[in-house]
Amino acid sequence: MRILLFTGKGGVGKSTVAAGTAALAAASGLRTLVLSTDPAHSLADAFGAVVGSEPTEVAERLFVQQVDAQLRFEQSWADIQKYLLSVLDVVGVDRVAAEELTVLPGAEEVLALLELRLHVLSDEWDVIVVDCAPTAETLRLLALPEALGWYMERVFPVQQRVMKALKPVLSRAAGVPMPGGSVFEAVERLHAELDEVQAMLSGPDASVRIVLTPEAVVLAEARRSYTTLSLFGYRVDGVVANRVFPSDGADDWRAGWVMAQDEVLLQVAQSFAGLPVWRSEYRSAEPLGVDALRLLAQEVYAGSDPLQPPAGAGPFRVVRTTEGAVLHLSLPNVSRAEVDLSRNGDELVVTVGSYRRLLTLPAGLSRHRVAGARVEQGELQVRFTETAHHEVPPRQEHA
Ligand SMILES: Nc1ncnc2c1ncn2[C@@H]1O[C@H](COP(=O)(O)OP(=O)(O)OP(=O)(O)O)[C@@H](O)[C@H]1O
Ligand SMILES: [Mg+2]
Repeated sequence: MRILLFTGKGGVGKSTVAAGTAALAAASGLRTLVLSTDPAHSLADAFGAVVGSEPTEVAERLFVQQVDAQLRFEQSWADIQKYLLSVLDVVGVDRVAAEELTVLPGAEEVLALLELRLHVLSDEWDVIVVDCAPTAETLRLLALPEALGWYMERVFPVQQRVMKALKPVLSRAAGVPMPGGSVFEAVERLHAELDEVQAMLSGPDASVRIVLTPEAVVLAEARRSYTTLSLFGYRVDGVVANRVFPSDGADDWRAGWVMAQDEVLLQVAQSFAGLPVWRSEYRSAEPLGVDALRLLAQEVYAGSDPLQPPAGAGPFRVVRTTEGAVLHLSLPNVSRAEVDLSRNGDELVVTVGSYRRLLTLPAGLSRHRVAGARVEQGELQVRFTETAHHEVPPRQEHA
């Protein structure tokens, strides 16, 4: 089963290209689902169809779903929220304010991801296309399972133990209710499910496509998201340059735009060297409805297979050498100076701009020390050497 995610800056055509790609897949005979993680839900508008919170068939083999966040929220967050509400009640926070406080930020998108998990496990689909929210939210979302995982593994067990120990004292003294077992279970379940989602999305059958329009500001954001997606281990397997002005019959205004876009398209090719850059013309009308969307996708992929699995070994791998090993992490469009690297026990902490990834080192590397690091050809390479038997690798080091 193939999973395709579409992301990019606001308004560039993510929903249009995602919907078109899905329509093309369905027309080629595959059971296709397109779902959106964006609460704005413009898929229904693009297809010109009434779409419910369950998969709705809009053409043969083509299903569209706009996840009902509220419903899913109640199913997976309700236990946790109930507890939080009871705490806030004791503290004296009014009910309406409390409800707002216990809403998980980004919950809607997270729950759309949980929905994706169910669909992957259901075995009902050949292709699942995900229409993501604009870049920043999507990146936050895709980084979340790992961040939450870290929290769950380190902080949560400690907190749970502390809470258990304090239980008799706390509940008597302050009247603060203690979380029952079901709260911990709910958090643990959520963690396990998000972990699975992350494994699905960074696996060999999933890839992310960046949609952009040929404009300098849009390209700058697309380049950054390419870096960040790679940092978190997601495979980017192509770029769609949308709303490219056709060059024929040009008046001065259009000729100006064509020239400006050509310049940016050149930079797109350089920024995403090695990846296909598909193009889609700026049409004279909005591509709405299954047929228009499918035609747009046909033009975009121009005969190449839109579902081809991503090539290469993936953004993260470890290669053994005679001295130890080299860890390779794909990190396009950055220089060594922009990457901050440190070691914390069996974790490698990689920071690029405001994004940080905590990479758990494979077991075989935990007794190695970092000997050096460089960025070459869009890849971070960290060299590890074996420590002598009497030497203990430092808990903390900064490369
Ligand atoms: N190639 C194109 N030619 C003409 N109009 C287009 C083209 N691509 C998209 N559009 C139109 O541009 C508008 C924005 O497209 P779309 O909703 O797909 O963008 P989006 O990136 O999903 O936006 P958002 O960030 O709000 O989710 C829509 O009205 C769509 O029909
Ligand atoms: Mg959209």
